[in-house]
Amino acid sequence: MIRLGPHSLPGRFLLAPMAGVSEQPFRVIALRLGAAACPTELVSAQGLMRANARTARYLRHAAVERPFWVQIFGGEPEVMARAAVMAKDFGAEVIDVNMGCPVKKVTKSGAGSALLCDVPRAAEVVRAIAEATRLPVTAKIRSGWDQANRNYLEVAQALEAAGCAALAVHPRTRAQGYSGAADWKVISEVKRAAGRMQVIGNGDVRTPADARRMLEETGCDGVMVGRGALGNPWLFRELEGGPAPTPKERCETVLEHFHAHAELTGAEAPSVRAFRKHLAWYARGLHGAAAFRAEAVRLETAAEVEAAVRRFFAEAESDASAPSVDDLDLGAALG
Ligand SMILES: Cc1cc2nc3c(=O)[nH]c(=O)nc-3n(C[C@H](O)[C@H](O)[C@H](O)COP(=O)(O)O)c2cc1C
Repeated sequence: MIRLGPHSLPGRFLLAPMAGVSEQPFRVIALRLGAAACPTELVSAQGLMRANARTARYLRHAAVERPFWVQIFGGEPEVMARAAVMAKDFGAEVIDVNMGCPVKKVTKSGAGSALLCDVPRAAEVVRAIAEATRLPVTAKIRSGWDQANRNYLEVAQALEAAGCAALAVHPRTRAQGYSGAADWKVISEVKRAAGRMQVIGNGDVRTPADARRMLEETGCDGVMVGRGALGNPWLFRELEGGPAPTPKERCETVLEHFHAHAELTGAEAPSVRAFRKHLAWYARGLHGAAAFRAEAVRLETAAEVEAAVRRFFAEAESDASAPSVDDLDLGAALG
């Protein structure tokens, strides 16, 4: 069982933080379908300090989100500590520190995966947040900056000594981005070296069999699923032995997600545009997905989305011949 301070998670399978995906509507659906926890997407510590409307939107959460687990990014321990206190004021119960984001805009200020290049500072960030908030602090790392600097063991040990309660490990370097296979041996090594700190494996889990294999092969305490859950929150139910969705359930869930997403976003046009990627992901592996995706990119209004979803998903059956490896648009991938 994964314990984060006073909180015990009810299972071992978690939704990974994903920018533009792990928003409140999708987190709520994933939790209902069996995810043990869903940290938020990364939230800027600087943004939190300014407490603008966009940031407040990131911190909206539902009563079922217990513990409410907020991921923040930043490079300065004092700023991160102050931002974490603000997140706590907004209801955060666990703070996660992003140490994996490869995007230049983030790393150039010493945040995200750049923290892997300055281990004492990474540890100081964890220590400062823990002291300022008295909340459990977790972190999510990559295996290192690049092939020549795979310092995951040094990072893990320093973070544990700084009080990190759990460490999520995405075993690719920053230089790898999302290419190549995740090296699960890294997760095993971190788990073997860890004392009380819990280790959550992440990377390339697409099926229940993958998740079980990760638990067995690495000995990790929990498994975090990212891309495998895009358009497929039912994966969490299947991970616990439950059934795949019926077309009717899939249709209702897509609509529920869309309506909650529209409510969170506010304005109609931006909300529809932002939801198109989810529609494409939900259609993966279904008969007629390519034609539906072509239609989805032209949808402009909520009424059009609703009609297209009802037309497509209410009847859609799986297509065994559909490619399983996806053409995911990872333009916004930040981890
Ligand atoms: C669209 C997208 C957005 C992401 N955003 C974040 C993020 O905000 N914070 C983070 O720590 N990781 C982020 N990641 C990385 C994932 O959490 C995860 O580490 C990575 O996708 C590998 O796991 P997977 O093979 O299960 O997808 C993102 C990934 C994707 C695909």
